[in-house]
Amino acid sequence: MRVAHTTSEVRRQLKNLRGHKTIAFVPTMGCLHDGHMSLIKEAKALADIVVVSIYVNPLQFGPNEDLEQYPRPFERDAQLCEKAGVDFIFHPTSLYPKSGPKVTLKATKLSDSLCGASRPGHFDGVVTVVNILFNIVRPDFAIFGEKDWQQLAIIRRMVNDLQMPIEIIGAEIKRESDGLAMSSRNRYLSDADRLQAVTLSQALIAMQALAASGERDVETLKNRAQEILTSANITTQYLDVRNATSLKSKRKLNNQSSRAFIAAPIGAARLIDNMPLIYNSQESTI
Ligand code: PAJ
Repeated sequence: MRVAHTTSEVRRQLKNLRGHKTIAFVPTMGCLHDGHMSLIKEAKALADIVVVSIYVNPLQFGPNEDLEQYPRPFERDAQLCEKAGVDFIFHPTSLYPKSGPKVTLKATKLSDSLCGASRPGHFDGVVTVVNILFNIVRPDFAIFGEKDWQQLAIIRRMVNDLQMPIEIIGAEIKRESDGLAMSSRNRYLSDADRLQAVTLSQALIAMQALAASGERDVETLKNRAQEILTSANITTQYLDVRNATSLKSKRKLNNQSSRAFIAAPIGAARLIDNMPLIYNSQESTI
């Protein structure tokens, strides 16, 4: 496995490696867990060469967010990548000019709500860095987790709207055995926070069960989830049901795919999760 720390180095080495081979790319901020590793596995199955980037992107952090504290265990991450058969790690110290970037991308509509509403500028930072990384690595495929569904939806639109020759692959959410979605930020949780955190997935599962039993009304679904969250003393940043692609709010489930989204501060962490909602039209007519 090779590691590059500068843009010119990664470009030169990838050109040599590549020849006529295909590249699958997994962008990350490091502190790798099984969620990231599942993306790497998917990448290995897709292409000849697997490139992972590890870069904590300052542009996507707000002024009061955890940029400084964000864990950066590079040696451990590199070992995990090596073991997983990654061919190349790109680990730059910075991707921006010293005076800060003067030209950036904007995610517009899709970033107005959900995480975008509580993290202004976050998705502009994400699309800008992902665009830079795509320009450096020039992958054929890029793999993103459904854990960050809004991010995945925005990246799909970026590639579509800017006509980038890259296929975006979404990978399923990896969970702990009790259902908590894996996240680098789960490290911030105390034992008590950890117990509370599992309630997020439980609330989403309750919404799924209600939808499967024929409930279409989004308010009713949200009330059910809210009961569960309130009883665990969780105050959400958002709890909503959206069209899975356009991310528009929904009042009734229908045959277009819908997803339930949740974000909440738990201890020192801000956690997010989402699940598909499939309502069973047959049960609703019984
Ligand atoms: P990061 O949070 O490190 O996540 C890197 C990738 O791993 C993202 O595509 C994310 O959705 C995926 N991922 C995280 N937890 C997961 C889980 N439990 N199951 C499946 N996939 C999971 O997302 C970012 O970094 C950054 O915004 C980035 C795209 C690298 C741009 O800076």
